[in-house]
Amino acid sequence: MTETYLTQPIDEESARAVAEAGLRLSLVDTADAAAFDEWLLADFRGFHSGRYGTEVLVEARDYLSDRRTTAVYDDTIAAAASPVGTVNSWVAPLTVPGGAAIDSWAISSVTVAPTHRRRGIARALLGGELRTARDLGVPVAILTVSESVIYGRWGFGPATFAGEWRVDTKRVRWTGPATTGRLSFTEPEPYHETGYAVLGKVMAGRAGEIALSRYLADRLMGPLKGNPDADKHRLVRYDSAAGEPEGFVSYVVKGTDDFVRHTVEVTYLAAATDEALTALWRFLLELDLVAEVHIGTRGIDEPLPHLVSDIRGARVVGVEDHLWVRILDVPDALTARRYERDGDLVLEVTDDLGFADGRYRLRVTDGEGRVEATTDAPDVTLPVSSLSSIYLGHDAARALALAGKLAGDVDAIDRLFRTAVPPRLSTWF
Ligand SMILES: CC(C)(COP(=O)(O)OP(=O)(O)OC[C@H]1O[C@@H](n2cnc3c(N)ncnc32)[C@H](O)[C@@H]1OP(=O)(O)O)[C@@H](O)C(=O)NCCC(=O)NCCS
Repeated sequence: MTETYLTQPIDEESARAVAEAGLRLSLVDTADAAAFDEWLLADFRGFHSGRYGTEVLVEARDYLSDRRTTAVYDDTIAAAASPVGTVNSWVAPLTVPGGAAIDSWAISSVTVAPTHRRRGIARALLGGELRTARDLGVPVAILTVSESVIYGRWGFGPATFAGEWRVDTKRVRWTGPATTGRLSFTEPEPYHETGYAVLGKVMAGRAGEIALSRYLADRLMGPLKGNPDADKHRLVRYDSAAGEPEGFVSYVVKGTDDFVRHTVEVTYLAAATDEALTALWRFLLELDLVAEVHIGTRGIDEPLPHLVSDIRGARVVGVEDHLWVRILDVPDALTARRYERDGDLVLEVTDDLGFADGRYRLRVTDGEGRVEATTDAPDVTLPVSSLSSIYLGHDAARALALAGKLAGDVDAIDRLFRTAVPPRLSTWF
């Protein structure tokens, strides 16, 4: 699949739409350093990041060259080599309920220059990504989003939610179980291979997580070039009592006027086992000279409140939509996951873009789903964005019904799709 998605020609419909706007759509040859640097700089600019220098660009080129990289150019402007639109994509294994991993079309770096906004460039790019994924037989597309108002129009639905925590560590005491294993400081470079294995287990262990590329994994273990806090970064590994690497936490400690009240900004907490999770949380909460631990993108079922003396000392300061999913192939997607109850449902799926619409019978026996086209009356009618929202087990069916985005036997579809453990994506891409 790797080579195919890199070499698949650009989508003709998108190229036509872009040309009609007087612009040019093109794949970027990531081996062409000058062209790729222009693309990277346009991407940074799109997210209001810095105008980084050579060191950052060299690193980014190395990390990101294996993504399908697309640009929109305006050949009429002086800086014609600088794209006015960017997107990249790759095939990422997505963990689904039951533990299987399915190919998903991961989309990132969607930017349009402010000078060229709202002329349909993003529309052309997104349509092209979805059609390319469909043509390559990838059953779902995924993304994490800067704004939640953008992607619903292309059939994406919010499929995992993430919690952000602030813990007042002067207020809470550890009341969780005795912690085991061994904690030790390490450095990103010597830890990378071990860290990949730990992350592999973390990502395979929860629906909604994706297998991480080297780039996505490395930045969880240590700072990338250009990170202003690089010299403050710390990495602590957790190994079980038997010596198995099972987790790590990476963080930065930030000072205030009061030396006993530093804040810990957690970059990432990886725990492949419950023992690793409790040991790493305890480590963070008991750090001396610290008054607050701040961490984002945790699952909405994070057990923290039950591990401390004062529930209100560990506050969720925000819950946000995180992973957005877009089903492209209903039978492939629905048969890849497992179900916690058996059932039989006819789903009428509507899809304005025409990838997923149809009427499907989903029969689940012993947790295994089979899907076939049917003409029987539907039990549930829903747009593809709603099906995508509940696909990974998220308990949104009732709310979607209330909002008019799902009709029919709500209880039945909720029972069938919901999972006891909510899906989670614990990083950005
Ligand atoms: C988001 C972004 C890529 C949109 O690009 P664009 O070329 O201006 O978008 P388009 O002109 O193709 O718009 C397509 C549709 O999306 C809507 N839309 C686009 N961006 C939107 C936004 N930020 N908020 C709400 N609606 C938006 C448009 O109004 C249009 O709606 P329509 O379907 O009713 O016609 C661009 O604004 C951008 O680069 N933003 C900053 C970077 C960013 O946040 N990227 C997204 C990363 S996940």
